[in-house]
Amino acid sequence: MMAAAEQPTAVWIPGPILGIETSCDETAASVLAADGAVLSNIITSQHAVHRRFGGVVPELASRAHIESIEGVSSEALRQSGHAWADLTGIAVTQGPGLAGALLVGVNYAKALAYILNIPVVGVSHLEGHIASAWLQNPGFPLPCVILVVSGGHTHLYFKEPSGHCRLLGSTRDDAAGEAFDKGAQMLGLEYPGGPAIDRMARQGSPTAISFPRSYLKKGSLDFSFSGLKTALLYTLQAMPEESRVARAADLAAGYQEAIVAVLVEKSFAAVRSSGARALAVVGGVSANSRLRALLQQRATRESLDLSLPPLAYCTDNAAMIAAAGRQALRAGLRAPLGMDAQPSLVSSFAHTI
Ligand code: KG4
Ligand code: ZN
Repeated sequence: MMAAAEQPTAVWIPGPILGIETSCDETAASVLAADGAVLSNIITSQHAVHRRFGGVVPELASRAHIESIEGVSSEALRQSGHAWADLTGIAVTQGPGLAGALLVGVNYAKALAYILNIPVVGVSHLEGHIASAWLQNPGFPLPCVILVVSGGHTHLYFKEPSGHCRLLGSTRDDAAGEAFDKGAQMLGLEYPGGPAIDRMARQGSPTAISFPRSYLKKGSLDFSFSGLKTALLYTLQAMPEESRVARAADLAAGYQEAIVAVLVEKSFAAVRSSGARALAVVGGVSANSRLRALLQQRATRESLDLSLPPLAYCTDNAAMIAAAGRQALRAGLRAPLGMDAQPSLVSSFAHTI
C-alpha cells in the first residue's frame, strides 16, 4: 500500500538533492549530485548526551536535533559546493523512529521545500539502509539478498530485479543491535554497546567462553536473540566479580561470536535457498569488524558478490536517505506539505518493501 503522504506528481528535474535523517540519536544531512554521487555526508552524534542514561532519552534527542539541524544541513550544503537554490528535491526520514525526533527533520524538510519551491519526499529509514548498499557500488546486481541489522531491525529480504523486496525472515524478539546494546550494559560497557563490544572483543577469544546460538527450526530464516541475553546474564551471575573483570574480553568475544555466527549462517542460507548470487549487509551492526571479516571470508569462498557499505554508511546517515529519496523522486513521488512523521512506518514507497 502506498503511504498516504506520498502522491504521484509531475516529473522531477534531476539535480542535487538534500537528505535529512533525525529518526534516533544522529542528526544527519547529505547532498547527492544529480547522478547520485555523495557530495557531502554530515553526521552529528548525540552519544555524549545519552551516554550517562545508558540509552536514548527521546525528549533529549528531540531537543538536540532542534539545536543541530540547521547547522548540519548548512554544512552539508557548504561541503557539497552548492547553494540552496541549486537543490531540486529534499528527502527526509518519515519513520520508523522516535516521534519527536522524526518531527524535527520532517518539519525542517517541509519548511525548506516550501521556501525553495521544490518537491519533498518522506523516506522509510529501512529503505534508506537498503539503499546504502548501492551508494558506493551503483552496479551491485539484482536479485540479491539483503540483511538489515540495526538497533531496531534484523530483517532478511530478497530484492527482485524489479526492486521489490520480499521479506524472508526477521527477529522474533530482540534486534541484533539490541542484543549488542543490552549485552554491553550487562558487561558494564558504555553506550552505544555495539562498538564497545566490538572493541573489547578484539582482545579476547571468540571460543574461550561459548554462548548458545539460536537457529530456530531447520530452514527457518527468522532470528531470536533473547535466549542469548539470558545466557550472558546467567554466565555473569555464576562468575566471581574478579573473573568477570579479568575475562571481560573473552565474554565480549564469545557473546559477539554467537550473534554474528547466526547472522552469517542465515544470510548465506537465504542466498542458497533464494537462488540469488549476491548479498548486501546494511545497518549499524554491519559496522561490526568480526561480522565484516566473516562475511568477506565466506563470500570469497563461495564466489558471491558482497556489498558491505563503508562504515560511514552503516550507522545512521543521511546519504542513504537521499539515495532512497532520489529513487522516489525519479519514480514521480512527492509528499504534500501536510506530511507527518510516522513512527511505525516500514515502507514509504509501495514498490520496494
Ligand atoms: O542503523 P543504526 O545506526 O540505527 C538504527 O537504525 O537502529 O544502528 C544502531 C545499532 C546499535 O544497536 C549499535 O550498538 C549497533 O548498531 N552498532 C554496532 C556497531 N556499531 C553500531 N554493533 C556491533 N558492532 C559495531 N561495530
Ligand atoms: Zn538505522
